[in-house]
Order: sequence, then C-alpha cells, then structure tokens
Amino acid sequence: MPLSDFPRYPLTFGPSPVHHLPRLSQHLGGAQIWAKREDVSSGLAFGGNKTRKLEYLVPEALAEGADTLVSIGGYQSNHTRQVAAVAAKLGLKARLVQENWVEWPDPLTDRVGNIQLSRMMGAKVTLDSAGFDIGIRSSWQQAIDEVVADGGKPYAIPAGASDHRLGGLGFANWADEVEQQERELGVFFDTIIVCTVTGSTHAGMIAGFAGQDRPRRVIGIDASATLEKTRAQVEKIARNTAELIGLGRDLRDDEITVLEGWAGDLYGIPVQSTMDAIRLGAELEAMITDPVYEGKSLAGLIDLVQSRDIPASSTVLYAHLGGQLALNAYSGLFRS
Ligand SMILES: Cc1ncc(COP(=O)(O)O)c(C=O)c1O
Repeated sequence: MPLSDFPRYPLTFGPSPVHHLPRLSQHLGGAQIWAKREDVSSGLAFGGNKTRKLEYLVPEALAEGADTLVSIGGYQSNHTRQVAAVAAKLGLKARLVQENWVEWPDPLTDRVGNIQLSRMMGAKVTLDSAGFDIGIRSSWQQAIDEVVADGGKPYAIPAGASDHRLGGLGFANWADEVEQQERELGVFFDTIIVCTVTGSTHAGMIAGFAGQDRPRRVIGIDASATLEKTRAQVEKIARNTAELIGLGRDLRDDEITVLEGWAGDLYGIPVQSTMDAIRLGAELEAMITDPVYEGKSLAGLIDLVQSRDIPASSTVLYAHLGGQLALNAYSGLFRS
C-alpha cells in the first residue's frame, strides 16, 4: 500500500531542515554540498534518525496495547536513547540492553552522553559485555521475556529499529520530504550521502527514491566495519520496504551502493580521516559530527567530492543523522 496510508505518529517538529554548506563546498572546490538535519528536527531528547523511524512503529505498539518498549544497542547507542525518549513521551516504559560495542578507553562511557539521558528519562538499562553485532541477540530476547514474566506487554524494537517489518518506512518518507523541499528550494540533489550501519536509514531512502521520476545516486558510507553484514541488511530491508510501499518493481543491484573505506578497522573507533572530517565540518560550518557515525560518512563525502567521483557539477545532500551526544564518551579527542 502507498506510504501515505501507513499510520504515522508524529514525533518530530515536521520536515527536517535542509541548508547549504557554502564554506565546506568552497573549501572542497567541487560539488555544492547541502545538509538535511535529523539532529535538529525533534524536541525529544535531541532526536536523530531513529525518531523518524519510530514514527511508523509507535502506532503498532499502541494498537497492540504495549506498555514497554524493549530495545538494544551499544553503551552509547543513539537509538536506545531515542527509544527511551519516545517511551517517556508516550507514558510507556523502556527496557534497554546496552552492549559493550566499542573498546574505547573512556572510563565514563557507560555513564555520560546517551546512556545518561536514557536513565534520566526513566529507562531501565542493563549493561551487557557482548561486543558489536547488528544481528538479533539473545539478551534482547531475554529482556522481552522478562517484561512478559513481570506481567508487562513488550513491544520489541531491534537494534537501530532496522530489522523490523516497518523499519524502512521512516526514511522512505524522508525521500518524499526531500522531493517536496527540492520543489520549494528550486534545487535538485543528484547525490545523497548517508552513513549506514544497521541499514534501515539507507534502505528506506533507496526504496523511497526508487519510486520517484528523476534518478539519483544514494551512496551509503559504511561505518560498521562489518561491511558484508551491513550490505546484506541494507539490501534485505530496501527490498522489503519497496514491496511494502508498493513500488511495483524489483530494485536493481545498482540502486544499492554501500561504500567501504572510511570505517577504519572497527565500529566506534575514529581513524585519521574521521578526525579530519569532524574538524573540517566544525571549523567551516559549525556542523558537529561524531566519531562513530557522521564523522565517518562526512569523511566519505569529502573524499568523493575531492576525487571528483562526485563531479563538480553535482549538488549533494548530506544526511546528518544525529549522534553528537556520544562525543561525551570520547573526552580524549580534540584536546588541542
Ligand atoms: C548518528 C547515527 N548515524 C548513523 C546511524 C546509522 O543508521 P542505520 O543504523 O539506520 O544504518 C546511526 C545508527 O545506527 C546513528 O545513530
């Protein structure tokens, strides 16, 4: 059925803002670069890309009579913080499993930033020593079972709200929003750059843009450092979402592009290109990006523009997906 027929519970201020980045564009000396800002589009605990995805899961949770949202992520998960925020907003409980996804030597990583806000909003947080994996975990299933055993009614949300039937809808809608904003601004973004890890942000965009008349490149920049898992998940969610919203054709392989080269060796660990990109965005545009996700996708954008893989004639839209709160757990960075 068409996307507009799916129930959507509004959790954002409306369309996320789109703006030009003139100093960054000039510095790179090629394509014109714009940003669309999921990091400033909701009043719920700083928002981010998951807030938009959750707009399509919440109606189902409410219809089922759930009283507890159960989800999983790393200690500094932006996703679980957004689940906690949505639960607070709706008067539901949040039960979060937070795994030790990143070996980064900051003693406050399980106390500051995202996890601090989740606790502040009343979520029940359990720390788990398991490492990074975007797949389904037994600890999450156990948390769901515990809610049931306590007499509650859980609504299960996987990591990143991705491997979920409705996970791609939020960013399919983002694609429609972009088309509308292009009309208003009199501009066409021929290239989209998006960070991808659990996959449904990028996948939703692919499905959404595939239904539009004018083709464009939707380039996912891997930040998982487990490329094959992320690529497979993007592909699966993109095809599922395309079918769900009645695209009416199969997605072509060339519509699904996940590039490697900027994740470094490990999820959550910044490399030199991440640091350079974060500094450039901050110094030239006061656009703050994080060392886990957006710093890596911004590094990809910078290289693709400078190498002319993205031609100078292009107009690029950088999807800023949030994530700044994790900077609190990287206090050793940028000390000079
Ligand atoms: C700030 C930020 N950017 C990018 C991503 C990647 O999005 P996805 O997991 O939908 O691929 C996430 C979440 O994982 C995130 O929190």
